[in-house]
Amino acid sequence: MCARPISVGDDAGWIAVCDLDRLKAETIVRVPGCDLLVIWNEGDVVACERACPHEQADLALGQVSTGRLYCPRHAASFDLRDGAITAGWPSPPLRLYPARIMGEKISIELQEWQPGR
Ligand code: FES
Repeated sequence: MCARPISVGDDAGWIAVCDLDRLKAETIVRVPGCDLLVIWNEGDVVACERACPHEQADLALGQVSTGRLYCPRHAASFDLRDGAITAGWPSPPLRLYPARIMGEKISIELQEWQPGR
């Protein structure tokens, strides 16, 4: 289970998960306590599930290039705008979650998060 969400005002449901500087330096950061990742992609932040929807490889070990996340096991890739996998792969899309930059922190909205598939 993820950390408890903020519950007041416009920030309801959003939690800070890492520093912006860290995300820029590391590109892919695991969200503590969740099977989610935050990714620095072309000047913006993306949040997604950690397990590859093809055969559950750990996407924290993947690579990001030109708007795509490459899986470390079979090298299929996911479009970080909509989660679509490389054409021809028998897999559902990568699940994406709301994420934003708030000052010097990266936050994700957990109301969309449903553990398991
Ligand atoms: S496990 Fe990720 S593409 Fe196969």
